[in-house]
Amino acid sequence: MMKTITVLPGDGIGPEVTTSAVRVLRALFEKSGRDVQFIEKKIGGAAIDTFGTPLPQETIDQCHNSDAILLGAVGGPKWNAQSMNVRPEQGLLGIRKTMGLFANLRPVEAFDTLIDSSPIKRSFVEHVNFVIVRELTGGLYFGRPSERRGAHHEQVVDTLSYSKNEIERVVEKAFQLAMKRNKKLTSIDKANVLESSRMWRELVNQIAERYPEVTVSHQLVDSAAMQLITNPAQFDVLVTENMFGDILSDEASVITGSLGMMPSASLRSDKVGLYEPAHGSAPDIAGQGIANPLATILSAALLLRYSLDMDQEAAQIEKAVRNVLSQGYHTCDLQMEQPNNHIVNTAEITDLVINAVNENQTIA
Ligand code: IPM
Ligand code: MN
Repeated sequence: MMKTITVLPGDGIGPEVTTSAVRVLRALFEKSGRDVQFIEKKIGGAAIDTFGTPLPQETIDQCHNSDAILLGAVGGPKWNAQSMNVRPEQGLLGIRKTMGLFANLRPVEAFDTLIDSSPIKRSFVEHVNFVIVRELTGGLYFGRPSERRGAHHEQVVDTLSYSKNEIERVVEKAFQLAMKRNKKLTSIDKANVLESSRMWRELVNQIAERYPEVTVSHQLVDSAAMQLITNPAQFDVLVTENMFGDILSDEASVITGSLGMMPSASLRSDKVGLYEPAHGSAPDIAGQGIANPLATILSAALLLRYSLDMDQEAAQIEKAVRNVLSQGYHTCDLQMEQPNNHIVNTAEITDLVINAVNENQTIA
């Protein structure tokens, strides 16, 4: 049966990096004889320019009729002056919410050739391999009220609200993931201050009873921010509230060398998912053909794994990316202290990944 992938290139370097990832996917689908169609729609600033809204109805409808969504990035200085309800970011938050994609997985894994670009000592980074599971459709990002108040707008309120079910479903996902990995789950909260965190902790402990093999610990978010730097290798699966996860995942991404390498998968209970690099739209280098497409290519690997049951092909992409980096090829955002390193552009590194995928296949 034909599968449909909706591509939302978005803004800045979004179109360049999604083009790369689609090329890698097409190469794999051709080889494996899978029937997959790609349909492109607008989101973010690009959609504001055409439709006056960051999330047009036709984009929503198309996403609802898809097996998976591949997204580039949204936002840029051009739209910064827009009023709050026509900001590009609303498109991204809106698509996550309407699609019900409550679990955002952000894997953090050391790439040997990039370790020396980490701001942290090699010995701390070498064995890093964890996944942040960030709650994505609730918490501080979506709680209401969120508004200015008072006669002179001298007050403001944002709300951190969760239902029991919203916490349980994302925690359950994190336990399931831990079972497939090293069976270690760290739940991150601010239970010494926030009631929402105390409920979060209670629910984690309740669900833990059904997963006796998983070692569970709780860390306060401020302490976790510190532990991510002082002992990042301790982590396997982390699970946390939307805003905490947003902040910790940017921190975590640079541990292994670059924000340009971090993929992400936003999932719900069925197989439909949205896949996007965790970096932004990088407007300063947009349109120059030099952006690093590897986080998007790695997001495409997650798409194959979680939405299309193509585990083997997903692993082939991941291995190909490793091979290309280990041969010293990289885009200009990365630093490599290797004698034979070659700086290449977006199209060139994409070609190298596709070639490496093909070579792996012949060997296997
Ligand atoms: C991310 C981004 C978004 C978020 C922004 C662009 C709204 O920072 O995906 O982490 O805060 O979720
Ligand atoms: Mn973020």
